[in-house]
Amino acid sequence: MQVIIFDNAQQVAENAAEWVAELINKKTNPVLGLATGSTPISLYQELVNKHKAGELSFTKTTTFNLDEYLGIDETNVQSYRHFMNENLFDHVDINKDKTFLPTCAQGENPRQQGLDYENKIQQAGGIDLQILGIGANGHIGFNEPTSSLASRTRIKTLTQQTLDDNSRLFAADEFQPTLAMTMGIATILDARYVLLMATGKNKAKAVKDMVTGALSAVCPASALQLHENAIVLLDKEAASELEDHEYYVWADKQNNKINQEFGLYHNY
Ligand code: PGA
Repeated sequence: MQVIIFDNAQQVAENAAEWVAELINKKTNPVLGLATGSTPISLYQELVNKHKAGELSFTKTTTFNLDEYLGIDETNVQSYRHFMNENLFDHVDINKDKTFLPTCAQGENPRQQGLDYENKIQQAGGIDLQILGIGANGHIGFNEPTSSLASRTRIKTLTQQTLDDNSRLFAADEFQPTLAMTMGIATILDARYVLLMATGKNKAKAVKDMVTGALSAVCPASALQLHENAIVLLDKEAASELEDHEYYVWADKQNNKINQEFGLYHNY
């Protein structure tokens, strides 16, 4: 796991945007895994800025989002489709026919929908770079604690902590879904690179459990310890419970030296 610690959340977003831009500019048919939540909003803002500056075109890019709520359709402002349109898709030149979320409408079989989503990812050539946030409870996507580390796209019941964490986004009298479709942990681990962004003090414990805790379904993000190319971008607050703080800063300097000498090399 490559842990990189930045002074603030804006620098995390700028660095994440560099990773995405490198993939999109390098690969003929890039496949990008996307996340919702508060954390990636500033990343999407950076990508929109790059697009408007003429530095980035999404016409060849296919995207797969991690998750989507059940019980609301895509016209609902609380849907993750709506979130993606608002924060990214409506502001760049992406072909929306190549943007996918794991949906399951009323009457559709969630098991079949999960299988179909996995197949769609395979047919696109697999995910090159998966963007991730992390829940205060260590979830990635909506893989809540106790999720199988070998799980695939499926329906998940959200935990009370996740519902409480996200309740700030819903009005008091608004329906808040308790079920979601989510990529599984094995689906995420199949991505060639995973890039996890975490900012703020309320993520510090989950970050510590992910990076230095036991590999355990109690902290689903700890599964990233098994990934060959897991990059973790943190601000100082999210990194504040890591004991080896100075080691990560030192290791990052060494990596930068190698990058300067040999150039960036990501095997997409
Ligand atoms: P947040 O959510 O970015 O809104 O904190 C992250 C997550 O739950 O994965």
